[in-house]
Parts: sequence; structure tokens; C-alpha cells
Amino acid sequence: PFSWYEKMRKESPVRKDERRGAWDAFDYQSVKYVLETKELFSSNRSKKQEDEQKSPIELSLISIDPPKHTQMRSLVKKAFTPKVMKEWRPRIERIAKQLLDEIDPASEIDIVTQFSYPLPVMVIAEILGVPIEDQSKFKEWSEWVVAGPKDNSPEAIKHLEQNQQRTYHELYVYFKEIISNKREHPEKDIISVLLGAEAQGTVLSEDEIIGFCILLLVAGNETTTNLISNAFYCFTEFPDIYEEILRNPKDILPLAIEEVLRYRSPVQAMSRVAKEDIILGDAQIKAGDIVVAWMGSANRDEQQFEQAGQFNIKRKPNPHLAFGKGIHFCLGAPLARLEAEIAIEEWMKRYPKFEKSSNFSLEPIESTFVYGLKEFKLSVL
Ligand code: HEM
Repeated sequence: PFSWYEKMRKESPVRKDERRGAWDAFDYQSVKYVLETKELFSSNRSKKQEDEQKSPIELSLISIDPPKHTQMRSLVKKAFTPKVMKEWRPRIERIAKQLLDEIDPASEIDIVTQFSYPLPVMVIAEILGVPIEDQSKFKEWSEWVVAGPKDNSPEAIKHLEQNQQRTYHELYVYFKEIISNKREHPEKDIISVLLGAEAQGTVLSEDEIIGFCILLLVAGNETTTNLISNAFYCFTEFPDIYEEILRNPKDILPLAIEEVLRYRSPVQAMSRVAKEDIILGDAQIKAGDIVVAWMGSANRDEQQFEQAGQFNIKRKPNPHLAFGKGIHFCLGAPLARLEAEIAIEEWMKRYPKFEKSSNFSLEPIESTFVYGLKEFKLSVL
């Protein structure tokens, strides 16, 4: 998409796509403005009326505005503090090692299915405190939640809606049971933390806790998978830089991960709804219009980043927008960074030398909003 972004930034940094009836913002300043100006751009994208039933995602943190957002975020952020993160490190290391133990270095390795996909699912299962055996269900559920219709036919849309409704129902029943168990026997996991907050008379209802669990499942899995796979993609693309990381991972790896986030952003775009008539650049946006903020383009904007088209792990500061900006800034960013760091560190300890398999081509995921690879085959040297 990157050459298309470049063309759009030059020709029409904010434009209306008449076919979709939505606005697109491509330059860094406009993307940042859309994301952080909560007074003008709403995260409530649902087209449903007040009296219609909303899905758990439509009710969750990522889809609500202040003041409700402020209240809910201040509760759930307790589960993502630096202290909590420190406690998770050994657990994530154990999971990464376990996955590496299962890899046979003598044969070709698909880094996506064998490593970067299972890792975040296992971590989130642990953090939510749900049995690891339920992983395959998680996979199916999260795929339906993020799925789009196959085409624009009424049948395809109906098929999707039916499956999403079934999925939400199954997720609801599943988490309801888990919550009831944890009420009796609280442990060291997010659900128990949130139930503790509920007990202190705060605002999270059981439905909201369920909505939040579902959000974590879908917001944290594919994104982190793509960050890890995209990092390996960059390493094989720029072997000299990889050598540098390998020599001094402690100092350089965190910077390299930030540059992967900028250069190959796992989430390319987020949308908002204009709350009133707004002028943005040359564009006259009307109240109710959808505005898509293309972070993937902003992160390659030459006006913001010197030599934006170069993968340069020395960038400091690196104010990329891969995790968003403002009040909805990714809650899981510290966790995603930690998972990527541990995954790559553990991999490098075990298999420092590897190369991209020669007999396959890189196939990107077919989605406009998420950016990653379906598979990525490596051979260990
Ligand atoms: C929000 C990206 C991993 C949980 C966001 C947003 C972005 C993002 C761009 C902002 C959405 C907006 O402005 O509308 C990413 C990327 C990830 C990642 C690129 C991995 C590399 C995770 C993980 C978790 C998580 C691991 C949790 C386990 C959330 C939550 C929100 C969010 C709860 C909503 C925050 C709010 O609305 O206040 N993420 N995310 N994310 N992310 Fe992430």
C-alpha cells in the first residue's frame, strides 16, 4: 500500500472516496489530529439506534466516548500497569520457550503458524486466566469477530451477521461461566482484578467485563502476531541491521521494534465519525461522516520522518502512530512490546542465523486495516 499512500499524501492528503462515502486522511498531521481530537471525532461507529441491541465490541472501550470511556479506562488500566507487566515477563518467556521447543529446526519453519500466531493467544489466555485448552475456540471466535463479508451480496452479509451473532452468544456464555467461577475463587488474572473493582462499587457491569474480555481477545491477538511476523520480515529484508541487533539486543531490540511498528504497522488505519461540520485541510467534512485515519501512511510521511522510506533502527524519537494517539491509545501497547521483545530474544538465543525460504512468496493478509503475512517460511542455518 505504501506507494499508494505516497501518491495520496502528495495529491490529496484528505479526500472523500465517493464510492465508500467516507473520508480518508493520509498525512501525519491530519491523522494525528483525527485520532486525538475526541471533541470532534467520535469512536462510536455503530449505526444502530439507541434502542437496538449492540454487540459487545460496540459497547467496549474502543467504541465509546467520554465520559463513559474515561471511567471504564481508569478501571481496566489497573490490569496493565508496569508492575503487572513485570509479573508477566516470566510467564511470557515460558510460553515462548515452550513454542520454540516444539519447532524442528531441521525442516522448514512457518514462523506465523508455529510461533507468532500461537504466542499472543497463549499469553492472552493466561492473562485472562482461562484454560489453554480453549485456544482453538478462541481462534475461531476471534476470526468471526474481525471478519468482513465475503462480498457485498445480501446473502454474504446475512451469513456473516448470523455467524457473528452465534459467536457473540458463545463468547457470552463462555465468559459468564468463567466469571462466576472467578467470583468464588479469585486468582491473579485480569478478570479477577476487574471483579475486584466491581466489588468496590465501581461502574463495570458483568456485561461490560465480558465485552472487555472479548475486546482483549480480538484487539490483542492478530495485531501482536503481525508485529512479530513483520519484525522477522524486516530482519530478512535488512540482514545488516539484523546483525547489529544480534550483537546488542538489550539496547537495540526495543528501538528495532519501534521501527517495525512504524515501517510495517500492524494496524494501518482506524476510523472515526465526525461529531459536527469540520474543515480539515481542504476538506469540508459534514457531521455524521466517517473519517478513516491512515496511520500506515502517516508513519511514512516525509514531512514528519526523515527518510521515511528507510528502515532505520536509530530513529530517536520515533513518534509513530502505530498504537494510535490520545485517549484511545492502545491499552495493550506495553504488553505487545514486551511480547515482541521476548519472542525475538528467545528466538535469537536459539536460532540466531536463519534465512527466508527460497521457494515461497510473501503473501500479505487480505485486509485494508490489518497488515501482516499469512505465512512466512524460514530455514534455520
Ligand atoms: C487500542 C493497535 C496490541 C488492547 C488500540 C488502538 C490501536 C491499537 C491503533 C487505537 C484504536 C483507536 O484509536 O480507535 C495495536 C497494535 C498492537 C496492539 C498495533 C500490537 C502490535 C494490543 C494488545 C492488547 C490491546 C496486546 C491487549 C491485550 C487494546 C485495547 C484498546 C486498544 C483495550 C482500546 C483502548 C481504548 O479505546 O481506550 N490498539 N494494539 N492491543 N488496544 Fe491495541
